[in-house]
Amino acid sequence: MIIKSSNFIKSSSKTIDCPQNNIPEFAFIGRSNVGKSSLINMLTQNKKLAKISGNPGKTLLINHFFINNNWYLVDLPGYGYAKISKKEKKKIESIIVDYFTNRNKITITFLLIDIRLNPQQIDTEFMEWLSENSINFKIIFTKEDKLKVTQKEKKAENYITEIFKKIKIHPEFIVSSSKTKKGRDEILNFIYTDL
Ligand code: GTP
Ligand code: MG
Repeated sequence: MIIKSSNFIKSSSKTIDCPQNNIPEFAFIGRSNVGKSSLINMLTQNKKLAKISGNPGKTLLINHFFINNNWYLVDLPGYGYAKISKKEKKKIESIIVDYFTNRNKITITFLLIDIRLNPQQIDTEFMEWLSENSINFKIIFTKEDKLKVTQKEKKAENYITEIFKKIKIHPEFIVSSSKTKKGRDEILNFIYTDL
């Protein structure tokens, strides 16, 4: 898959407001600050496409980007940001649940996980929820450049083994870095094969 063009289409606060057409859609989701927007810009080689911030909670809407005039890439709000009110947390949660329940053009969901972390309850619960709702997902580990060389090889494998022990789910995964562009071709190949 070669990305020739990427255009922002719209931000929506509800699924009903998302673009209404029959175009395949690839969703990117994960905890706030995990690197979703950075990854989207890395994939599209368009640094200005998705807004990046050192402060978590930057993406609060469902953002649709149209790639190669052929498929949608979707940047979703990050979940699990501790420093916002309960009301805001509930709102983000309901946007995410509404999107995954009512949007029927989702082809693959990429769940992003910071590779430095061991499995966190908030992520494993979300994986269980996706799986119970028959939503096909793959894990993208982010920020690989931040690992020590000695950790690079085993960290992702260990995470997947732990996940299987905890919730009996064994997702496919890709290791990535928006800084070094590691994982870019692999992610784009997944998209290409499913288009
Ligand atoms: P929200 O929109 O708040 O949910 O965050 P997000 O998941 O979109 O994260 P974003 O891309 O805004 O990145 C958060 C922070 O992590 C920024 O300071 C980025 O520069 C940094 N970051 C993202 N990806 C990488 C990476 O691959 N390597 C390194 N070293 N830093 C990264
Ligand atoms: Mg973001």
